[in-house]
Amino acid sequence: MDLSASFLYNWGKMRENVKKPKERQAWGTRFGIIMAVAGSAVGLGNFLRFPVQAAQNGGGAFMIPYFVSLFLLGIPLMWIEWTAGRYGGGYEHSTAPGIFHTLWEKNRFIKYFGVIGIFGPLVIFVYYTYVESWTLAYSFFALTGKYSPCTDQRSMQDFLLGFQGLQKNQYFSSLFWAYLFFLITFLLNFAIIYRGITKGIEKFCKYAMPILFLCGFIVAIRVLFLGTPDAQKPSWNSINGLAFLWNPDFSALKSAKVWLAAAGQIFFTLSVGIGVILTYASYLSKGDDVALSGLTAVATNEFAEVVLGGSIVITSAFVFFGPLATQEIAKSGAFNLGFVTMPLIFLKVPLGAIFGACWFMMLFLAGITSSISLAQPAVAFLEDEFDIDRKHAVWFLGIICFFLCQPPIFLLGHGVINEMDFWGGTFCLVLFAAVETVLFGWVFGIEKAWEEMHKGADIHIPRIYKFIIKYITPLFLFFILGFWFYQEGIPVMLMKNVPEADKPNILAIRFLLIAIFISIAVLVRLAWQKRKVPVKKG
Ligand code: ALA
Repeated sequence: MDLSASFLYNWGKMRENVKKPKERQAWGTRFGIIMAVAGSAVGLGNFLRFPVQAAQNGGGAFMIPYFVSLFLLGIPLMWIEWTAGRYGGGYEHSTAPGIFHTLWEKNRFIKYFGVIGIFGPLVIFVYYTYVESWTLAYSFFALTGKYSPCTDQRSMQDFLLGFQGLQKNQYFSSLFWAYLFFLITFLLNFAIIYRGITKGIEKFCKYAMPILFLCGFIVAIRVLFLGTPDAQKPSWNSINGLAFLWNPDFSALKSAKVWLAAAGQIFFTLSVGIGVILTYASYLSKGDDVALSGLTAVATNEFAEVVLGGSIVITSAFVFFGPLATQEIAKSGAFNLGFVTMPLIFLKVPLGAIFGACWFMMLFLAGITSSISLAQPAVAFLEDEFDIDRKHAVWFLGIICFFLCQPPIFLLGHGVINEMDFWGGTFCLVLFAAVETVLFGWVFGIEKAWEEMHKGADIHIPRIYKFIIKYITPLFLFFILGFWFYQEGIPVMLMKNVPEADKPNILAIRFLLIAIFISIAVLVRLAWQKRKVPVKKG
């Protein structure tokens, strides 16, 4: 890794002498950036993670901590990241190390906290892309009838295990299909990023998001009109299915775990606290609105999550399998719901192949619009801080990511995805969000921050948010960080729940993650060594 760092440094230096200053990328249209940010937010989390979290944490009552977290964490963080990103973009920085440094110019260390804003998304990208590739494979399987011989939960489960290479069975004898679809998905991600912000990400999201919503509506309407497939069980219908998910169990609110789950879901679903929104917003121009655009992206995500995500999986499981089995299925996790229960249901409805393909295509589009946003910070960092052109940066990152993607594929059954999700997708998010909120509201200063948020704004943000951003959001974040660290962080660090046989793999993954983090930190150091004082544009 150190070798690659010095290679990049020398390459950047060499190019400095031969290249004209390059034009900074920018979004083409406002609709485009809103679709890109909404695309980053709307992901597998909306359709698989959310219903499972709600079903496991008090049903309708979950929506109370969920909306409290949305208003006190999600929306403020969205505004903070849009504003800080646009501000940093004005200094030619698209990623957290540079953006944090522009917010606190006198501090030499703050840029190293920004490393999380490249590391976190990269780690999520590495396992997320693989899961995303399953959705593409399953759309294909739905249309070709490959999973049709599976008629019950057991055989569909075997189908999934065979596909994932965790079992050799009559459905799959190797990882061939999984690997093939991984390669297609991986290449597609990098092909989009390779084309750049406007021609790649924006153009793709402008088409993908409406198609995603169309597929979502088709599947949701189908689910709402499932009727009562089992005449002996008239109460197993979609209305009762919705009630099953949404009827509140208020006693759940007494549990801190439910509040943590709600806050965690808000982070994950909105893609805040990762660093990707900072990067996307850095391609805005100085006078572009951030207040209304940020809110619109949140609203689009919430519609996809609460309305579509909240009416598809649990409702259909209830209609076909009844309340007890649905409880069990929800407990067995998001993957089982998505890749075992849903295909089974589609096999039982007329034109199920089409509906199944719609469901998995929707998941795939939700996934890919999120994963491209996860890879962009690393590309942007190489472009901005080492002056490498986009195409070379994409090649370089593509090769590194390809190798990093192998452990989740080949060590899937050994807790690797959970481990990466814990560090990249949970721990880093809360820590990063806490740092950036304090930086924005306290170091940069709430008065300046408020003024910055309103530059070019199409709405006036309610004044109460000045107070929320300065006091409530950071307090809430530190409370979550402390409590969650105590409850989950310590057992995870000590590998308490890891089976003995998996411990060497998990340790190896931890070393790998540390090596990635250190490598990015070294790159940040090298980049700053060659930098001069930041120059503000315009
Ligand atoms: N926000 C993305 C999701 O919900 C990561 O899946």
